[in-house]
Amino acid sequence: MTTFTMRRLDDMHCHFRTGALLEEVLPWTVRYAGRAIAMPNTRPRAILTADDVVWYRDQILRVRDAMPVQYPFEPLMTIEIRDSTTPQMVMDAYRVGAVAGKVYPLGVTTNSDEGLRDFFSTQIQETFRAMRGIGMLLLMHGELDKPRTLVTKREHVFLPVLCRLVDMFPDLRMVLEHISTKEAVELVWEFGPNVAATITAHHLYLTLNDVIGDGIRPHNGCMPMPKDFSDRDALIEAAMSGNPKFFLGSDSAPHPREKKECARGACGDYTAPHLPELLATKFEEHGKLNRLDGFGSRFGAEFYGLPLNEGKITLTQETWCIPEQCGMVVPFRAGLPLRWQLV
Ligand code: DOR
Ligand code: ZN
Repeated sequence: MTTFTMRRLDDMHCHFRTGALLEEVLPWTVRYAGRAIAMPNTRPRAILTADDVVWYRDQILRVRDAMPVQYPFEPLMTIEIRDSTTPQMVMDAYRVGAVAGKVYPLGVTTNSDEGLRDFFSTQIQETFRAMRGIGMLLLMHGELDKPRTLVTKREHVFLPVLCRLVDMFPDLRMVLEHISTKEAVELVWEFGPNVAATITAHHLYLTLNDVIGDGIRPHNGCMPMPKDFSDRDALIEAAMSGNPKFFLGSDSAPHPREKKECARGACGDYTAPHLPELLATKFEEHGKLNRLDGFGSRFGAEFYGLPLNEGKITLTQETWCIPEQCGMVVPFRAGLPLRWQLV
């Protein structure tokens, strides 16, 4: 049987949620990732302060430690940067181990109802300056909800904000998260080494047609919306290029089935249960399985300044079908085949 072994993944963008959903979703990631960036847009308690970071890490570690098999997995903690975030708040969060601050512009996605309104207020500028000073990364949901702007153009209208920030903070490490357009790929490619981008597994599979082109498919719906074929081609090329500016951030975003299959379905694709398999299948399809270790396990760590994971995972080449449901959540591409399986 053909097998493929690689370093444990670093998932540099993952939603673990809280409570029962946390218990359900975290163990999937723990099986194959050495680390994962825990997104702070939790509810009812968002992760905004050092106290929140300590509380959330404790919740995550409790679930990890209760697993019947133990794996080498560490959560990487973040706080959400809102208009009210101060330099002191980021310094306190950093002191308790937060590695990054995440910006959700107002109204662009799940739980962004208190997102950032003004990237250029005096206080936020000072906050970004403090982050640069201590070496904390700035992670950006790179979309803006502007009047008369289609949802598919929200990344495009955010890019000038990114350009301005890069000009103002040439040595603040920034990550443009879950990029979805050819334009964003090209821009990140051109910036200096302090700007990188994460790419999800689902954006390597989807175009807008998979969301609204053949019936409305709520389980493919996510932000940023998948876009055109040329955009998907550019993402595939970037992810498989070996350019260290592009690395894995799954944006696995579980929502219970009834929150997706309803009149106003939540955004988010759930890839945690089969992330290595989705990636291996797609990379192999393009003859680039040899590039998966860099994309999934090396470039993220290097950008964050972390040692590489020592543990390994192995996949076997064996076709199987993704389950119709994993606990409360319908996984991405439910019922469809994958060519690789995690051992
Ligand atoms: O589709 C998404 N879901 N995109 C995001 O940015 C947030 C996420 C979530 O939290 O559900
Ligand atoms: Zn996300």
